[in-house]
Amino acid sequence: MTRSILDITGLDVTFPGLVRDTRILRGVDLQIQAGQILGLVGESGSGKSMTASACLGMVPEPAVVSGSILIDGEEVVGRSDAELNKMRGGQVAMVFQNPMRSLNPFFTIGQQLTEIIRRHRSCGKQEAIAAATEGLRSVQLPDSNVILCRYPHQLSGGQIQRVMIALALACRPKLLIADEPTTALDVTVQAQIISLLYRLAKEAGLTILFITHDLGVVSQLCDRVAVMYEGEIVETGSVSDIIDNPQHAYSKRLIEAFPAVGRGQQTFKAQGKPACGPSIIMGGAS
Ligand SMILES: Nc1ncnc2c1ncn2[C@@H]1O[C@H](COP(=O)(O)OP(=O)(O)OP(=O)(O)O)[C@@H](O)[C@H]1O
Ligand SMILES: [Mg+2]
Repeated sequence: MTRSILDITGLDVTFPGLVRDTRILRGVDLQIQAGQILGLVGESGSGKSMTASACLGMVPEPAVVSGSILIDGEEVVGRSDAELNKMRGGQVAMVFQNPMRSLNPFFTIGQQLTEIIRRHRSCGKQEAIAAATEGLRSVQLPDSNVILCRYPHQLSGGQIQRVMIALALACRPKLLIADEPTTALDVTVQAQIISLLYRLAKEAGLTILFITHDLGVVSQLCDRVAVMYEGEIVETGSVSDIIDNPQHAYSKRLIEAFPAVGRGQQTFKAQGKPACGPSIIMGGAS
């Protein structure tokens, strides 16, 4: 029997204002079943990143958050910072569009990766190095000895994003949130990262909330899609439901703007493997 790893109900985020309050999220309802990839799409400013921040308990002050966000049954809304710190990493982790901003330029990848592993798993140095090596291997960075000794600026964009995914997965989260993780990458590397995320979900059972503007990527990667518009989820369904038969006016406009994502387009899910092919799945770093 499947279970919900993410279960958001009636989520509201409101910024109090001098004249009037601004409601950024309006009664958001969203569920993702274990091992599924949900694509969250919507125009700029519709509230996708705010939804992600809320899942991590990181909505900026002075916003007021109400509603419920259950991650594998554990409530996020209303938790203390200490409790949230424990949940981040263990229950939920995030990969951002600009990974350089999340890494410390003064520490090597090895120092940053082992520090996170040691903090969350309370293990010794050797065990953390072994886990870091394994983590890099799982994101197809097999030359781990080299990568571990490098500083962030010494890696390519694709390598950095793989390191970020390894960092995010280091504490074995139930839910990975990826907020436009491939936007800053060139098309080939983008395909490799998409392929990697697909494999992690289908082989390792990772549950993914994938935020993007790119309906092409959604049609290739995701099991389900939720369309966000002005702080509300206006439509949710399987990828083919939404792409072949959009109901909401905004969904229709979104799909019209992506003519390549039409009916009958073959996706790699139908073939049971990523479109980028086994060479990319098995391949090394970009
Ligand atoms: N710290 C903040 N204070 C006040 N309003 C904010 C803050 N952060 C975001 N907002 C507002 O919340 C709304 C949703 O922003 P959000 O970043 O979630 O959009 P998005 O859907 O991720 O857009 P994009 O596709 O451009 O990344 C926007 O109107 C934005 O101006
Ligand atoms: Mg955003």
